[in-house]
Amino acid sequence: MRIDIVTLFPEMFAGALDASIIGRARTSGALTIALHNPRDYTRDRHRVVDDYPFGGGPGMVMKPEPIFECVDAVRAMAEPAGRVVLLTPQGRTLDHGVVAELADAERLIIICGHYEGVDERVREHLADDEISIGDYVLSGGEPAAIVVVDAVARHQPGVLGSQESLAEESHAAGLLEYPQYTRPAAYRGMAVPEPLLSGHHARIARWRRRQSIERTARRRPDMIARASLTAAEQRLAAAAAPGAPPDDRAHLARVALPVHDIDAATVYYAALLGDAGERVAPGEHAFRCGGATLACVATDGDARRPAEVCFAVPDLRAAHERAKAAGSAWVEGRPRRRANGERAFGLRDPSGNRLCFIDEATLAP
Ligand code: ADE
Repeated sequence: MRIDIVTLFPEMFAGALDASIIGRARTSGALTIALHNPRDYTRDRHRVVDDYPFGGGPGMVMKPEPIFECVDAVRAMAEPAGRVVLLTPQGRTLDHGVVAELADAERLIIICGHYEGVDERVREHLADDEISIGDYVLSGGEPAAIVVVDAVARHQPGVLGSQESLAEESHAAGLLEYPQYTRPAAYRGMAVPEPLLSGHHARIARWRRRQSIERTARRRPDMIARASLTAAEQRLAAAAAPGAPPDDRAHLARVALPVHDIDAATVYYAALLGDAGERVAPGEHAFRCGGATLACVATDGDARRPAEVCFAVPDLRAAHERAKAAGSAWVEGRPRRRANGERAFGLRDPSGNRLCFIDEATLAP
């Protein structure tokens, strides 16, 4: 990709375009950047680029001729002609979608405005697009151009390593990133959250997803409203939203149904529910049914194996206290971690039905 930057202050870009990811992208050839000064396209002795506004008012306005002539010359320097982007606080606001759109272009010509603004004819007859990096006014478009170039460079093939692109994807998914930690595991009494040290990949992924959802719900309700979430995740987001009343109710998470032949059951339920489901373990096939899961579990020859209804709860200890007070018969008296990483306890109701309560933070996907 080629980016031409039209700026009255090329010196402002020194360093910013040479280091880190942009520098790497330029060295690798994934990105070509050229700076052009409209002052070099003036024809008068004083190389004047601004003038008083017609009709009066404060400040100066960038004259049209140096910008038009500069862009004409820049266009002729390479193929294709490129998309002309004017940086201005009046433009559409830069976000992930706009960055992806700009990054798709083979060539961008970015004009940095200055002073009180640019002559309106530049906006109307030269710019293809107008972009703002936020609702505040900078003294010029140069810092905005660095922001645009950085964000666009990250989208060029081969520019990011696989670890960096992961973070990119998490924003593309419409959620803020989860908290990151590195060594030491404890510093000045501040400990790294236990799931990250567990070495259990599924648990870590669950913890990160939950953190992303809760953080986005707290900080960016606008993003969470557009994010693609399961019913359980929507409940999580609603509970984390500012001002949400604490929700400590149990939610139906899973019904485990014993089946004699897991393959035959998979075919039957897939046809019945109109969904292929997912083989989550050799003897278990899960079908998502709204916010809960129907899990067909092989009986392994045990004809008396009962069905089990599983609830997810935000506070497993409180659920355990309630179960004790209700007079339950224990299957697993104390909460413990199961093979699938869930922290849970099991019991029977007075009719002998099997129930299980799972800490919702550890709920298997
Ligand atoms: N020029 C001045 N302010 C700007 C902003 N917020 N975004 C883009 N260009 C600008």
